[in-house]
Amino acid sequence: MDSLAPATNKKADALAQRYGADALPPAGPWNETIAVMLDHRSVRGYKPDAVPPGTLETLIAAAQSAATSSNMQWWSAVAITDPAKKKVLAEIAGNQKHIEQCPLYICWVADMSRNQRISDDTRTDFETMPWLETFMVACIDAALAAQNAVVAAQSIGLRTVYIGAMRNDPIKVAELLGLPPQSFVVFGLCVGYAADDKAEGEVKPRLPQSIVLHHDRYDAAEEAARRAAYDAEMTKFSARHELQAATWTQRVLNRLGPIKSMNGRETIRASLKKLGFEIR
Ligand SMILES: Cc1cc2nc3c(=O)[nH]c(=O)nc-3n(C[C@H](O)[C@H](O)[C@H](O)COP(=O)(O)O)c2cc1C
Repeated sequence: MDSLAPATNKKADALAQRYGADALPPAGPWNETIAVMLDHRSVRGYKPDAVPPGTLETLIAAAQSAATSSNMQWWSAVAITDPAKKKVLAEIAGNQKHIEQCPLYICWVADMSRNQRISDDTRTDFETMPWLETFMVACIDAALAAQNAVVAAQSIGLRTVYIGAMRNDPIKVAELLGLPPQSFVVFGLCVGYAADDKAEGEVKPRLPQSIVLHHDRYDAAEEAARRAAYDAEMTKFSARHELQAATWTQRVLNRLGPIKSMNGRETIRASLKKLGFEIR
């Protein structure tokens, strides 16, 4: 029994970090895999040290082990280590310096071009290609694959941050990476070792489970009060990290209110059309 005690403490600590001490969910099963997942935090400062040989391939094996819709495997990854390319990608992303800093930057591609090539090679019209459903499946597959890579990276001491800002200019990104039509970078991912303790940061609390988890029927009746409690928790986190928006609610207002917060991404439908996606 003694040997279980440290694991139990680790679980309690991990849950307290994730939710704050006042919103702990009931205790349940626990293991190292879950511990790695709950320890997630995005890191935006990296050491220059390269990742060990074979790491990229291991991350991709983890990514390829994710479920994929009908086994269509609608995604590709482009690993970027060339400093000049990373510099351009950082500029596209609004000068996010961690893209230049990290030793490995992986662009995750929703890739319908590979299956289009099968259509072309076999002279078979794929009636399913131009539909929103197919496009969504490609994006979902790419996201599931990437998240498996993130968990694998964390499990070997690496840190990551997703970069959705690749979608600020998907056409420029596609040109830089030489993507074929019907493929686009859904997001990038910085991979490397956190620069120092400050960069390593801390786990960012999430909404209490009482807001996101519903039983048998969706119920938002208590949401406002529960959100206020989360806002209080996030205010403490924001103060520690000198974040502009103190509460989560304020962050939502800032992010979703003004169109300028889309950083040009409101034009993405037109960009996708130029990249060969019809999306009916
Ligand atoms: C699809 C996606 C795109 C993101 N894009 C960016 C980005 O461009 N720059 C950035 O610094 N963080 C980005 N993030 C990280 C989020 O800001 C971060 O996950 C969120 O604030 C929660 O913090 P945590 O990951 O530390 O728990 C992105 C996350 C996701 C899932």
